[in-house]
Amino acid sequence: MKEFCVWFTGLPCSGKSTLANKLKEKLEELGKKVYILDGDIIRKELNVDLGFSEEDRRENIRRVSVVAKILTECGVVPIVALVSPFRESRKKARERMENFVEVYVRAPLEVCKERDVKGMYKLALEGKIKGFTGIDDPYEEPENPEVICETDKESVDESVEKILAYLENKGYLERKGYTEEEEEAVKKRLEELGYI
Ligand code: ADX
Repeated sequence: MKEFCVWFTGLPCSGKSTLANKLKEKLEELGKKVYILDGDIIRKELNVDLGFSEEDRRENIRRVSVVAKILTECGVVPIVALVSPFRESRKKARERMENFVEVYVRAPLEVCKERDVKGMYKLALEGKIKGFTGIDDPYEEPENPEVICETDKESVDESVEKILAYLENKGYLERKGYTEEEEEAVKKRLEELGYI
């Protein structure tokens, strides 16, 4: 099976981490080794030295893309969940590896503001956080993402199913189980060989 990387991009509270976690579960059920590179976690360990200036965000995205590339070389599927607001940075990440699957996690700003999981939109709107993506910092929408998940319209399962279908279609993933006849044939052969 080919190596690939799933890269979620979208506004804060668009649903990236939720989809990343569910996708991880599903990929593991299919026998894949998976590692999530989530902005909220990465910024507490690998990238503690970075803030939210344009330069720091670009560096954050660059470092995460380096780690993602290493993971693909180790046979692990990296799932990246970063706001990653800059087209150019995402393009560079794409160029770093083969089979880059950009998933645009799209939800209207109003919906993200309402979700406001960590109360950060509120602080940004009150001017207590400066340069918050979607409020007073830009988010450059992907022009040609491999998959778009509309988290205000689809359930988590529906969004993840879209991604899995894409991966399967591209030949990155094999979901087909054995048919009953195939299982029967394997069982028979194992019996013949005295293994069961
Ligand atoms: S990125 O722009 O560099 O890709 P990243 O995904 O790592 O961002 O981090 C985004 C998370 O950091 C958000 O979920 C939010 O909790 C927090 N955060 C803190 N300050 C900001 C800010 N100014 N803009 C966006 N997110 C912020």
